[in-house]
Amino acid sequence: MANALSSATSHPFTLEDRLHLERLISPIQASAEEQTGGSDVISGLTQIPKSLPPRYFYDDRGSELFEQICDLPEYYLTRTEAAILRRCAGSIAQLTDACEIVELGSGSSTKTRILLDAYNQQGYPLRYLPIDVSGGILESSARDLLKDYPSLQVHGLVATYEQALQKLTPARLPNRMISFLGSSLGNLNSCECDVFFSQITGALQAGEYFLLGIDLHKSKEVLEPAYSDSQGVTAEFNLNMLRHLNRRFKGNFDVAQFEHWAFYNEDQHQIEMHLRSLREQRVYLRALDLTVEFAAGETILTEISRKFDLDVMQQYLKARGLEPVQVWTDSNQWFGLLLCQLQPAL
Ligand code: TRP
Repeated sequence: MANALSSATSHPFTLEDRLHLERLISPIQASAEEQTGGSDVISGLTQIPKSLPPRYFYDDRGSELFEQICDLPEYYLTRTEAAILRRCAGSIAQLTDACEIVELGSGSSTKTRILLDAYNQQGYPLRYLPIDVSGGILESSARDLLKDYPSLQVHGLVATYEQALQKLTPARLPNRMISFLGSSLGNLNSCECDVFFSQITGALQAGEYFLLGIDLHKSKEVLEPAYSDSQGVTAEFNLNMLRHLNRRFKGNFDVAQFEHWAFYNEDQHQIEMHLRSLREQRVYLRALDLTVEFAAGETILTEISRKFDLDVMQQYLKARGLEPVQVWTDSNQWFGLLLCQLQPAL
């Protein structure tokens, strides 16, 4: 089947034939979760210090603001990673041979296109498996790709990483590469990171690839503006979480009484993003029957973004059986891209 589709010149299959979407989060589960959910909000807001799960950033408005963050002049990550990818995509395609791409958190497809172009130029068949919790974004970007790549097959999974990695069936092309770009790894704490890698190595067969994009250590002067931009888009993104909670859990957060605060914790090598209460106040979330008291100046941690050392990361990956095959960076050494291959178990 894949071979029959490999020629870019003849494409007798319609777009619908080449699109396959599978929902592991069914709409029924999603709404049941919506009704019973919120235990993570309760536990985060009743702890000291307070925190909120980053997943509440991403309502429709949040996803839109996140796309805007990626284009900000201060937010060097997306641009730098895309520039590295443009330079090394040809080498990645050569090293991995005919290879299907599984992308975790597929989002906007700019980076995917760079990789697909490289595989296309080698004359390889194109098969792409995007994984995202948002079915709407997944389907619309899959359709855009299918229009532009007449021989491409897309098998999308609407699922969490964990669900999707458990559910992956063996590759249909000679090889497979799971990609995890945008330094999303940095948004996991070290414990979550260990769990994530056991899921990755569980999902890959020996000889298959993992492509990782990570943000590297650098000065505070470069890092902090990337998370506190001059136009206030990141602030709006952070504060939008409170609006989302108000809607979802019938809350009465007064968004004007909170401010965005992000700083680089140099000891931990991580950006910490908080919402700070501007005064003493009380908030009620009716759907959770939860009252939360804030002292003036008290903060809620909403996200961490860890920054990595390339050598330490390579050792970490090696120790998990993911052998770095090649590593690329930019001229400032701001961002790293690592292609790893799963070694056979000893
Ligand atoms: N992983 C990226 C980063 O840490 C993107 C990201 C996730 C982000 N959450 C964010 C960017 C919050 C800005 C604010 O930079």
